[in-house]
Amino acid sequence: MTSPVRVALLGCGTVGSDVVRLLHEQSADLAARIGAPLEIAGIAVRRVGRDRGDLPVDPALFTTDPLGLIKRDDVDIVVEVVGGIEPARGWLVEALRAGKSVVTANKALLAEDGATLHDAAAEGGADLYYEASVAGAIPLLRPLRESLHGDRINRVTGIVNGTTNFILSAMDATGAGFAEALEEATELGYAEADPTADVEGFDAAAKAAILASLAFHTRVTAADVHREGITEVTAADVASAKAMGCTIKLLCIAARNTDPAGRESVSVRVHPAMIPLTHPLASVGDAFNAVFVEAEAAGQLMFYGRGAGGAPTASAVLGDVVAVARNRLAGVHAASESAYADLAVRPMGEALTRYHISLDVADRPGVLEAVAGVFARHEVSIATVRQGPAGGGPAGRGEDAELVIVTHVAPDAALAATVRALRGLEIVRSVTSVLRVEGGA
Ligand code: HSE
Repeated sequence: MTSPVRVALLGCGTVGSDVVRLLHEQSADLAARIGAPLEIAGIAVRRVGRDRGDLPVDPALFTTDPLGLIKRDDVDIVVEVVGGIEPARGWLVEALRAGKSVVTANKALLAEDGATLHDAAAEGGADLYYEASVAGAIPLLRPLRESLHGDRINRVTGIVNGTTNFILSAMDATGAGFAEALEEATELGYAEADPTADVEGFDAAAKAAILASLAFHTRVTAADVHREGITEVTAADVASAKAMGCTIKLLCIAARNTDPAGRESVSVRVHPAMIPLTHPLASVGDAFNAVFVEAEAAGQLMFYGRGAGGAPTASAVLGDVVAVARNRLAGVHAASESAYADLAVRPMGEALTRYHISLDVADRPGVLEAVAGVFARHEVSIATVRQGPAGGGPAGRGEDAELVIVTHVAPDAALAATVRALRGLEIVRSVTSVLRVEGGA
């Protein structure tokens, strides 16, 4: 058999350990699939002497010198599962410029500065694969970057953060508030001790940038993504969604837009939204991820599975390792980054969406007209209006009422201005809930 393909592993935490385990357990199959054995050349870690249980690896392979490992002549592929911007960026640029293929799960780095990595890969004639960076085990980036390259993608809508999906699913199932559901997620190990990256939408925004870049052949960074987390979603919002036959999900939405002059742009956003229970993403519960892709010729596609965890993420890493190892043996590398479309990224104010607004109002003649007037002045068309007693109390007191208004599609800035104006009306006691509605209800 051909001489081995040698892998440098940067990081040996949850994912790295599972990469080592899978490499060991499946070595014969992997060698057969690649046409050469895969060998670990070294593993860069912060502390060499740490107890790693029964990890099937020679302790002599551990090093605290990642750059030294990357530069070794006997290293063909660099696998990075450390995360963060620096020092990971420096390591990967060094590897790629030296012509070593890189497999990384580092969504933060790809979303902040993917361009530098892609440029280094082009310079070194090396592969840069990152399937594990978005939605863990789900084969999603390869379909976007290869299988769908004959098609035109118009929209990608995803649940790409398992922690927030667990929290929102728990709120939906039990009626719990956000804090209570977060506590449960932390106890069960779904949420980190510091849950900010998940609950404030940073993790999902990084993934949205990566998905949008691939779907629209355009460089999109995390800074281009409008981001809102789930910390302000209340039990009342969830109940309101239920009353409408909907559920609330933290969605990442990347959409192609065409203006009346035929100019194309993209909008990329992450925020909680109501979706109808009939939408395929509504049934994605617990910590699962799913991504719904709408393409011109292929139509609607749904990708579903585990978006986090050691073994699922390691599965995606190893799939990439096999692909880049094969390429090396064949003396080729995959097509470089496709960013030729270079579409403008629209600000959130121009994104087209719908709102569900609940407000407590005085229950007297002319109130509905005043409220409707605000929508009309902002050129927002009302789709449905429902009126009931305020605060869920008995009907017919004639003092306050609750209005639930759902709009047609309008620019987000017009919808936000409408809500601001409603808050300023004397007859509006309070605006109790404002949620975007997605998914065609
Ligand atoms: N923390 C992420 C999630 C997994 O909850 O889905 C890693 O991206």
